[in-house]
Amino acid sequence: MASTQRKTSAAAGPDAIELLIADHKKVKALFKQYKKLAEEGGAAAQKRELALQICQELTVHTQIEEEIFYPAARRFLEEKDLVDEATVEHASAKDLIEQIQSMQPREKLYDAKVIVLGEYVEHHIKEEQNEMFPQIKAAGVDLQKLGAKLLQRKNALLSELGLLEEEEEAIEA
Ligand SMILES: [Fe+2]
Ligand SMILES: [Fe+2]
Repeated sequence: MASTQRKTSAAAGPDAIELLIADHKKVKALFKQYKKLAEEGGAAAQKRELALQICQELTVHTQIEEEIFYPAARRFLEEKDLVDEATVEHASAKDLIEQIQSMQPREKLYDAKVIVLGEYVEHHIKEEQNEMFPQIKAAGVDLQKLGAKLLQRKNALLSELGLLEEEEEAIEA
C-alpha cells in the first residue's frame, strides 16, 4: 500500500521542496537515533552503521542540492549570498563526513564528530527551510519540474551506491 502511494506520487513528479524537506526529516531522525545510541553506550558496530548511513544520506542530499537545486536558487533568488553560505556550510559538513567515514567508533572524538555534524546540519536545514525555500516558492519556480530532476538524480546516486533496491525493499517490507 505504502509503496503504491509512493510510486504514484513519484510518477506525478514530487515537489522539489517537499522532497528536500523529507530528506531533512529523515536525517534529523537518524541523528536523534545516534545521539540516543551514544548516550546509552551503544555497540560500536551499531554506531558505525548508523553514522555511515547518515554520511551517505547527507552526501546524496548535498550533491543533488549542489547540482540541481542551488543553481536554480542562484538564478531565481535576489539574495545570492544565501546560496553562497549554504555552499560553504556543505563544504564544512563534507569535511566532517570524510573524517567520520575514515574513523572507527572506538577512536577519540568519534561521537563528538557525529553529534557536531548533526548540529551543523540542524542549523543548515533551518536556514534552507526558513529562508531559502520560502524565497524560491515566492519566486515562482516550477517546483514539480525541479522536483522530478532532483528525484531522478537522487535515484541514480542511490543506485550507484547500491542503495536504491534496499530502500524499495524496506518500503515493501
Ligand atoms: Fe543543503
Ligand atoms: Fe538540504
